[in-house]
Amino acid sequence: MRWDPAQYLRFADQRSRPFGELLARVGSERPGIVVDLGCGPGQLTAELARRWPSARVFGVDSSPQMVERARQVLAGSGVQVVEADLRDWQPPAQVDVLVSNATLQWVPGHRDLLPRFAGWLAHGGWLALQVPGNFTEPSHTELAALCATPRWRDRLGADLPAPVAHDPAVYLETLNACGLIVDAWETTYLQVLAGPDAVYEWARGTTLLPVLAQLEAAEAEELCADYRQRLARHYVPGPAGTVMPFRRVFVVAQRAQRSSPRPASSPEPASSPEQASSPETGVEATAPVAGAPVAPAAGVPAARAAGVPAARAAAGAPAAGAFGTLAALHHVQLAAPPGSEQVDRAFYAGILGLAEVPKPVGLAARGGAWFRAGSLELHIGVEADFRAARKAHPGLLAGSLAELEAIAERLSVAGHPVRWDQDFPGYHRFYTEDPHGNRLELLAPRG
Ligand SMILES: C[S@@+](CC[C@H](N)C(=O)[O-])C[C@H]1O[C@@H](n2cnc3c(N)ncnc32)[C@H](O)[C@@H]1O
Repeated sequence: MRWDPAQYLRFADQRSRPFGELLARVGSERPGIVVDLGCGPGQLTAELARRWPSARVFGVDSSPQMVERARQVLAGSGVQVVEADLRDWQPPAQVDVLVSNATLQWVPGHRDLLPRFAGWLAHGGWLALQVPGNFTEPSHTELAALCATPRWRDRLGADLPAPVAHDPAVYLETLNACGLIVDAWETTYLQVLAGPDAVYEWARGTTLLPVLAQLEAAEAEELCADYRQRLARHYVPGPAGTVMPFRRVFVVAQRAQRSSPRPASSPEPASSPEQASSPETGVEATAPVAGAPVAPAAGVPAARAAGVPAARAAAGAPAAGAFGTLAALHHVQLAAPPGSEQVDRAFYAGILGLAEVPKPVGLAARGGAWFRAGSLELHIGVEADFRAARKAHPGLLAGSLAELEAIAERLSVAGHPVRWDQDFPGYHRFYTEDPHGNRLELLAPRG
């Protein structure tokens, strides 16, 4: 099957959005090895390298055309692009983040591969996959109907490779059985596509490929003309474009930390704050402070940490008989005036060293920015009538006094005075203000 990177990328915006929403749920901070299975033209693999600049990133794809494009796109990025079938490829060491976006639907029997992928994960490692689940939409059923007509049935045969994906619950059960903590969900996007015959153009980048691979050029032209007409009956352009409903299935799963405790009440391994182990160095990133509350990892809803079965949690329903106890802090929101995102990035990422995480697309239009480090998540939200919070404040925990002092030094040099305070037993701490005057407390455990 011959992929055409240019045709595939005609709808790059719509195709990349699920990737962003998938990766937003992966909480890894300093992974050693990151793998993108089915990396395609590489533009999304580049996002992985940007997010984790110190990681060794591998892109794996079986299409020579896609690999060629990915090597161009990723030149100089340090990403290693490997031409291989993902069913045969092996990572060089344990993997900290394994991503597969819009690929596994092309791999028959991919559910059986999941235990192998789970086995590649380092302790605390993440598996994130996304597959389309739109195969009952006219874009697919019309093609199947056309291929089954007398004109094409004998020519194409009955064994055309067709994409296959499962419901979220199937992935959840399979990966739970591998000992992973799983967060699975689905979304139906109402994609608004621009241009004439937009859904046909979309399908030329993906859906049509297995069919076209069987045909001579003239035959392909004939079939495409028919398919295009069939699609036109279902997808009628409106003033804003052509609406193409598109269901997608998302799965983010994490292998438990090596030493994380398992609450007696939980049937599954417990998650602990970010502690990505690097197979390269054997070094483990910041350990949670002893005695600190254990927050669920970013990919795991709080309900999971409370032992609520995932399917019920995903549906928003409490577990039968559950008291409804809250489990942990998910994030803290601070306010900022409109248009201050650059200043916020300079402060929270540049000085405090937090990593910016993409806001979900539905929320991004509101402005502001989200930041994360380990289990700490800060959301900066825009408030038109902004007033600085001078008393209420988050307490941000550093791993050690040395780290706290280094942050204090960076703040002072950048013009944010710090005020040390000895009044909190068991902790060193200081206060400062963010660029808008919001009070912040930073602390580290004594001893
Ligand atoms: C729809 S594209 C997705 C590309 C990329 N992940 C993205 O989201 O833009 C699917 C990719 O999976 C690759 N692929 C399909 N089957 C594969 C296999 N068995 N091994 C490796 N790559 C495969 C294709 O070559 C193609 O580049």
